[in-house]
Amino acid sequence: MSYDFDKSPDRRGTLSNKWDRVGELFGNPEALPMWVADTDFECPRPVMDALRGRLEHPVFGYHFPPESLLEAIVDRMWEHHGWRIEPEWIVPGTGVITALGAALETVSDVGDEIILQPPVYYPFFSSVGDSGRRVAENRLILENGRYRMDFEGLKDLCRSKTTFPAREPRVAALVLCSPHNPVGRVWSADELEELGRICLERDIALVSDEIHCDLVLGGARHTVAASISEEMSANTITLMSANKTYNLPGLKSSFSIIPDEGMRRRFALASRGGGSPNSLGLVALEAALRDADGYLGALLEYLEENLEIFREGVADLTGVRLIEPEGTYLVWLDMRDLGMDDGDLARFMVHEVGLAPDYGFAFGAGGEGFQRINLGCTRDTVREAVTRLRAALS
Ligand SMILES: Cc1ncc(COP(=O)(O)O)c(C=O)c1O
Repeated sequence: MSYDFDKSPDRRGTLSNKWDRVGELFGNPEALPMWVADTDFECPRPVMDALRGRLEHPVFGYHFPPESLLEAIVDRMWEHHGWRIEPEWIVPGTGVITALGAALETVSDVGDEIILQPPVYYPFFSSVGDSGRRVAENRLILENGRYRMDFEGLKDLCRSKTTFPAREPRVAALVLCSPHNPVGRVWSADELEELGRICLERDIALVSDEIHCDLVLGGARHTVAASISEEMSANTITLMSANKTYNLPGLKSSFSIIPDEGMRRRFALASRGGGSPNSLGLVALEAALRDADGYLGALLEYLEENLEIFREGVADLTGVRLIEPEGTYLVWLDMRDLGMDDGDLARFMVHEVGLAPDYGFAFGAGGEGFQRINLGCTRDTVREAVTRLRAALS
């Protein structure tokens, strides 16, 4: 089955946050929408066929996740990530951020500290705050154009519980973003092993958001953190969905994988308010995982080419530096050398360049002076973005 992503549908007038709210949210209706992380691509045809099939039945009552969906997830984890899981480890849900809230409740108490590694996907901050926990920051380090985790900083942050007097408040968990939105790192197995070791030694639970796990570029390989060892598996809640890869976030389905039985029971209790995925989301998720492999290959090829166009287009721009992504369809642009403060940079992007990006400062410490640009769009849109950037900076 072939896909021509150049012929992506016009999304205007479809209640699309990305396209239909640009004027309202950015104050310039003409700004090219390259912000929120959905793509402009049609979803896979097997997903559309499955949805159409389901729509033939006119009742949308309450539904449960079928065994066949759990089997599709088990197969997917083995075939794509070499991770053997059991169907009973899977807890279907309505979204990764909803599941993150439940995960925090599972592994920590009100008042505990949760480690985030900014700059990072900004809803992590609100998830921690909304659940009555506190954020402890372990900033990523940018070195020679590439980010890495600060393991020494991490050790300092989560001083062993054996320390006397005991650290107050308790550091209970670390939320990992893997691959990392917005900096585009695909963490290596070695890095994840080191992270997992520190967490285990200090009794810190790992909550690993791996929603971008399929979106790896330039030969990078995603490693599921929990697949590193049995100890890590027992200490980790893995959050996933098919939404980024197959462009289904509006259908509200996700799944969490929790090997430890006690953790899983607490998670199920914590997520009872979230409900199960909606009827169409269940159907779409299973079809995407089972039948849409051709789509993933074509998508990755297209994204590589988009990246190449963007990379070439900004290569000689003074004051702009692309952080080379290893994964996701999001690029992280270092614009600090333009010497603007964040307000001026935001105004410049929206009103002078004519782009609606995600502002770097929203991603927390270390995001100041950066912009996140979504390349999950047609090549024409990427070219137009480059043209606008070049014109404004010339
Ligand atoms: C790292 C990460 N986690 C979670 C989400 C959102 O997931 P959901 O819509 O399933 O809550 C996104 C969306 O951009 C994301 O980038």
